[in-house]
Amino acid sequence: MISDKDAYLNYVDSAAEYIRNAIPSGLEIPSVCIVLGSGLAPLASECTDTMSISYADIPGFPVSTVPGHEGRLIIGNLEGKRVFMMSGRFHYYEGYDTSLCTLYVRVMSKLGVKLLMLTNAAGGLLDDMNPADLMVIEDHLSFFCDSPLRGPNLDEFGVRFPDQSFVYDKDCIELLMKSADELGIRLHKGIYSYSKGPQYETPAEIRALKMLGVGAVGMSTVPEAIVASHCGMKVAAVSCISNLAAGISKTALTHEEVMENANKSSKSNCDLVKTFIKKWSY
Ligand code: HPA
Repeated sequence: MISDKDAYLNYVDSAAEYIRNAIPSGLEIPSVCIVLGSGLAPLASECTDTMSISYADIPGFPVSTVPGHEGRLIIGNLEGKRVFMMSGRFHYYEGYDTSLCTLYVRVMSKLGVKLLMLTNAAGGLLDDMNPADLMVIEDHLSFFCDSPLRGPNLDEFGVRFPDQSFVYDKDCIELLMKSADELGIRLHKGIYSYSKGPQYETPAEIRALKMLGVGAVGMSTVPEAIVASHCGMKVAAVSCISNLAAGISKTALTHEEVMENANKSSKSNCDLVKTFIKKWSY
């Protein structure tokens, strides 16, 4: 929860200023920020003219504690577009409050970012899903998510009671579907449900979510999407189905299985994001 509004805004401003100053003058500040979820790390090496900043050096940024989440902000060119890439993100299960997990989103907003592209690994619930499939998120369930907007409203970013009817941008969803089609990638479309984690869901929880029409379940993305939409940013989001959700899968879930399938889908996931970014205009 944001308890000290001035201190929070101070962190946001200091982080934005630090990043702005680190970008050599004459170089455009990106309008897109891509969050590299599991399996998308190779996208960073496809960027050209890159520079990167360790999260540890950015004032106010928490440090990512998840193995495999490196903790660097990358700035470069991807498919002819200037992009920020977050290599590593912050999760509630690490012990961070959702307002801290999403601080970077407000920093991106301050820097003028218009599109937040969120990617993640998630458990799949749809009948025709297989591990290593991809799903574009069309809506979410935030029932189990502590609101990142709790506490005094940050009026300079958005309103107290923000509408949630259009969190995931319709044009982006269409463009992602079109990109997948062109690439011959099967892209599911569905609802993502947030879990606090770090434990995976029980089979009973998954049966309940399935009744609610959920397509995928995971431990990130929703707090970030809420804050981005509060700031007036467009949000596009893709889940890599790293496993069938608990009880649908015949075996116990492990982080190793999640990483293995995220890596299996890596090529198609990276291709999808690249093609989408190439087509995207604002
Ligand atoms: N549940 C929650 N989070 C996840 C899962 C899952 O099955 N797979 C990857 N992240």
